[in-house]
Amino acid sequence: MSVDSRRQEWLDAIAAAADETSLSRIDSDLFGKKGAVQELVKSVSSLPKEERPAAGKAANALKVELSKSLAERREHLGNEAMQRDLAAPDFDPTEPGTEIPRGTLHPITVVQNELVDLFTSLGFTWQDGPEIESDYFNFESLNIPADHPARETQDTFWLEDGTLLRTHTSPVQIRTMQRFVAQDMGPPLRVIVPGRCFRQETVDASHEHTFYQMEGLVVDRGVSTANLIHTMKTCLRVILRRDDFKVRLRPGFFPFVEPGFELDVNCPFCEGAGCKVCKQSGWIEILPCGMVHPNVLQAGGIDPEEFTGFAFGMGLQRVVMLRYGIDDIRYFTGGDLRFLSQFDGV
Ligand code: PHE
Repeated sequence: MSVDSRRQEWLDAIAAAADETSLSRIDSDLFGKKGAVQELVKSVSSLPKEERPAAGKAANALKVELSKSLAERREHLGNEAMQRDLAAPDFDPTEPGTEIPRGTLHPITVVQNELVDLFTSLGFTWQDGPEIESDYFNFESLNIPADHPARETQDTFWLEDGTLLRTHTSPVQIRTMQRFVAQDMGPPLRVIVPGRCFRQETVDASHEHTFYQMEGLVVDRGVSTANLIHTMKTCLRVILRRDDFKVRLRPGFFPFVEPGFELDVNCPFCEGAGCKVCKQSGWIEILPCGMVHPNVLQAGGIDPEEFTGFAFGMGLQRVVMLRYGIDDIRYFTGGDLRFLSQFDGV
């Protein structure tokens, strides 16, 4: 059979295709790997040399014609199908679509976002660090040597190569100082580090093995405890969404700060009278913080004779619990949608 007669046969088949399925079959019969058109193009090379140019040209023209015809038929069938749908009596184009359920932000994310907004407006930048950390950054460089009892309170998960899941976001203090110094970006520096941390904890209503912190670090000339307190109060205004609260500082021991503090806020649930949440004390421990220890500045490559700094490390779950009056930390990772969906836009 000549190419010409087959051309007509193919065009007729395309024109006769009644639906998308049969059209696709014709498409692959023609243009598939072993399709008729491919075979035709290939056969050109077995012709005598002088016939090849003309035959090649004809084969190409046919190829173009057939694919155009396929495309036209496809469009035609598509239009027809749409017309049919529109004409069908049970089709109502004005019917509202089905609503696809939309997720909500996790309450930790909600509060973290607000705090990041606050601190970036105060000139802080957001820094990140690895969740799998070395002993050096997590402990050693933070003034916690191998035999230090402070390690007891921060037991964690160790990997076989001697690295560990970080127990706090404080290692990023050292990483940040070293990087800023190496890249000539500071000090002075102001950074925050939101991130996930891990500890070997027995899980109960107020302890989780996986939790979120937000570290803050400020290093400059002449930074004092007054700057620390002011910044913490500004931060608490955002967390508590009110101005009328009191804070107090108690001594707190963390080897990487000196002096170190536990910053308490008067209990917003009982206004200081004493209740279950504040364990009848009238105060809630909320922000561990302190002045950066000279050894830590030194590990970061900064001269403690010239610079001072403050640091804080808030537990984001705690803060969220305080904000919304949540009484069990296990809700956060429990994955219960009834809990999570309450925080849409609050
Ligand atoms: N990293 C400490 C912890 O997780 C908190 C902290 C950070 C304390 C910064 C002081 C300064 O317990």
